[in-house]
Amino acid sequence: MGHPWTLSDVTGGLIWECWLRSQPEDWVVMFGIFTHDGAFLGAQDVVATGFRDLRTVSTASWLRRDAQGRGLGTEMRAAALVWVFDHLGAEVATTSAWDWNAPSLGVSRKLGYRPNGEARRSPRPGVVERELRFRLPRESFRRPEWELRVEGHDAAAAFLGTA
Ligand SMILES: CC(C)(COP(=O)(O)OP(=O)(O)OC[C@H]1O[C@@H](n2cnc3c(N)ncnc32)[C@H](O)[C@@H]1OP(=O)(O)O)[C@@H](O)C(=O)NCCC(=O)NCCS
Repeated sequence: MGHPWTLSDVTGGLIWECWLRSQPEDWVVMFGIFTHDGAFLGAQDVVATGFRDLRTVSTASWLRRDAQGRGLGTEMRAAALVWVFDHLGAEVATTSAWDWNAPSLGVSRKLGYRPNGEARRSPRPGVVERELRFRLPRESFRRPEWELRVEGHDAAAAFLGTA
């Protein structure tokens, strides 16, 4: 009988992999999204390769099903973008989504991303999906009306090689 994997094994493994892969210049930062009471709602990832020269990040996100469709996906991506553009000095953000993923495409459209091509991808054997790609230069970002409060930035920036 194989190992009885649990969700926490899988997510824990993913988090370890992100930590192990991260180093100055090439990194994955995973933000957790929580209610004021501390309940976990989802995650907003920011990924960069060769950041010092390219000043480019990509993002990915997911929310618990009962937290979707209430505007939180837009808010959390906007928060990540304010951090990367205003605090880390990023110049471009990219993202992608399957062509059927209306909520993800909606978030990108609302925040000002522009289409940047597409690709055929195979997420699992026998399945072909159309991936739509998007690009957001800093000056095109449709900023939120609220202000982002950032804590612990200096230590993070030093580790990420952006200080
Ligand atoms: C993708 C995801 C993070 C978006 O977050 P969300 O909170 O659900 O999205 P929002 O409520 O901020 O909606 C953003 C826009 O998308 C559109 N939208 C949302 N749900 C939609 C739906 N079911 N159908 C069509 N459009 C939809 C809306 O137009 C909305 O814009 P509006 O405020 O002008 O109406 C979230 O839905 C999710 O976690 N999905 C599952 C995981 C996933 O697909 N991750 C992305 C991988 S690329």
